[in-house]
Amino acid sequence: MASSRIIIFSVLLLSIFSLSSSAQPSFRPKALLLPVTKDPSTLQYTTVINQRTPLVPASVVFDLGGREFWVDCDQGYVSTTYRSPRCNSAVCSRAGSIACGTCFSPPRPGCSNNTCGAFPDNSITGWATSGEFALDVVSIQSTNGSNPGRFVKIPNLIFSCGSTSLLKGLAKGAVGMAGMGRHNIGLPLQFAAAFSFNRKFAVCLTSGRGVAFFGNGPYVFLPGIQISRLQKTPLLINPGTTVFEFSKGEKSPEYFIGVTAIKIVEKTLPIDPTLLKINASTGIGGTKISSVNPYTVLESSIYKAFTSEFIRQAAARSIKRVASVKPFGACFSTKNVGVTRLGYAVPEIQLVLHSKDVVWRIFGANSMVSVSDDVICLGFVDGGVNPGASVVRVPVGG
Ligand SMILES: *[C@@H]1O[C@H](CO)[C@@H](O)[C@H](O)[C@H]1NC(C)=O
Ligand SMILES: *[C@@H]1O[C@H](CO)[C@@H](O)[C@H](O)[C@H]1NC(C)=O
Ligand SMILES: *[C@@H]1O[C@H](CO)[C@@H](O)[C@H](O)[C@H]1NC(C)=O
Repeated sequence: MASSRIIIFSVLLLSIFSLSSSAQPSFRPKALLLPVTKDPSTLQYTTVINQRTPLVPASVVFDLGGREFWVDCDQGYVSTTYRSPRCNSAVCSRAGSIACGTCFSPPRPGCSNNTCGAFPDNSITGWATSGEFALDVVSIQSTNGSNPGRFVKIPNLIFSCGSTSLLKGLAKGAVGMAGMGRHNIGLPLQFAAAFSFNRKFAVCLTSGRGVAFFGNGPYVFLPGIQISRLQKTPLLINPGTTVFEFSKGEKSPEYFIGVTAIKIVEKTLPIDPTLLKINASTGIGGTKISSVNPYTVLESSIYKAFTSEFIRQAAARSIKRVASVKPFGACFSTKNVGVTRLGYAVPEIQLVLHSKDVVWRIFGANSMVSVSDDVICLGFVDGGVNPGASVVRVPVGG
């Protein structure tokens, strides 16, 4: 085992282009921040959003591709500032609501009449329930990029009300999900609209304490570590949708990147090139970036080519393969594996992006998962023959 521990983290910078309106409170922050923490038991990322009157810290799962912010309104939602938008109002159309709801129970948050219907979904389990769109106040910490600043309020943040059953599968204590997707009511665009800042955000996901910045940089993630020179690749829009989605015809809120080839060291894997492209009519294929999968998921034929090449190159380095440990298909003894600044010295994985010189390199620290003191596994899993996106890349941990 390595005696000195290092922190490997991945940074995602996302620019979103979309139209939105703005409302401007008096103090105008340049950027906002949210803490992002990895839950060790589910490997989900969680954040805390202060919402309602009086303010309640709502722990929610951070969902990079999520369409909207949703919380459980069945239990414990108490707020004097909860409002439900009327059917066919501007809020309902901004939220993309296609239904008008009636609720046959006593009125309470999550149960209103003549309000726009929502279908909040749990992107971890794939479940969705019907609910309603709503508005309430949130309070978010501002930042100048290097130091946290005062909390600022957004009086009418749009979110959707889900039910308690939708929380199944989420990290302990989570009361909903914070959707960071590219939809108008995703949190990045709502934050940008509230304070008229640039439609940009940056996420640093680590196995410990990470952070998400909304607005303009600088982005100082750790004291002294500023992100400036990064390789960039365009985000792609998936015109179809690969998430559970009732609003037919809506573009996917998820972020896709254009992986054009996958290499292990110098060897390019033989992959059916259509799998790497997004099929414009079905939305299937391509590579999406996800924060809700614990490990990178590969379509079956890609997975097979990938693991067999990795195993071959590991063997050539005298790395001994051992029995697989689920959910992984390729595990190794650590005995003959060196340790470098970038983790275990295993074959390097490369995701080649829009041009040959723009490569997302994945070293041992991010490709291997320790399953016991002397066994490490290739942290990629088989997504089956029809996983939606062909590659679901998680930024940290394989
Ligand atoms: C909604 O309207 C229905 C029918 O008029 C009524 O029975 C119900 O109690 C109302 N619900 C709420 C939440 O006001
Ligand atoms: C941010 O604020 C801190 C403390 O108020 C200050 O020392 C620092 O120079 C500021 N940084 C920038 C980039 O404005
Ligand atoms: C997209 O998927 C449809 C339906 O499966 C198929 O007919 C079509 O050929 C695909 N398009 C491309 C470019 O692969």
